[in-house]
Amino acid sequence: MHKDVGAILLNEAEIKARILEMGAEIAAEYKDKNPVMIAVLKGSFIFMADLVRAMDMPSRIEFLGVSSYGDKTTTTGAVQITRDLDCDIEGRHVIVVEDILDSGLTLSYLISYLQNRKPASVAICTLLDKPERRKVEVDARYKGFTIPDAFVVGYGLDFAEQYRNLPYIGVLKPEVYA
Ligand code: IMP
Repeated sequence: MHKDVGAILLNEAEIKARILEMGAEIAAEYKDKNPVMIAVLKGSFIFMADLVRAMDMPSRIEFLGVSSYGDKTTTTGAVQITRDLDCDIEGRHVIVVEDILDSGLTLSYLISYLQNRKPASVAICTLLDKPERRKVEVDARYKGFTIPDAFVVGYGLDFAEQYRNLPYIGVLKPEVYA
């Protein structure tokens, strides 16, 4: 285990097993819809890679860059698009792939941003959900795991751009960001 991680919350096998289930669930519901899978950068890049490989069906892969916390662990509420989509989503079924749903501010902003482009539908697929921290209501159609209010890293999630490569999801020791 990394020295800055206090505890492993979800190990590789648990994450893998849950993503296989989520991929099968999405494939059952979207198999004839060729959805646009939109990964919200950077945190969801590993989740997206595993999720689409668990979906035995056609889809288009897109990336949307948004600014997040900088080097802090709490949100400012300000969301900025730093990289836009490469395709027109009008009339398409869209699945937004997120690493974690925390205050909900990022996703609620992104949903209205995407709705303005008139997709046929928009659903949210998040690997992690921290419901205790919610500030705005966000309806995620697919959720991997509900987790307690702790700052987590690994499997794509960072603190100050570090720890994304850890293969598990762990709780960062508070002294690292205090
Ligand atoms: P929200 O707008 O507060 O829901 O935050 C969503 C974004 O905040 C996520 O996409 C992550 O980038 C970041 N975030 C929230 N909680 C954590 C955490 O525990 N670890 C790492 N990043 C987090």
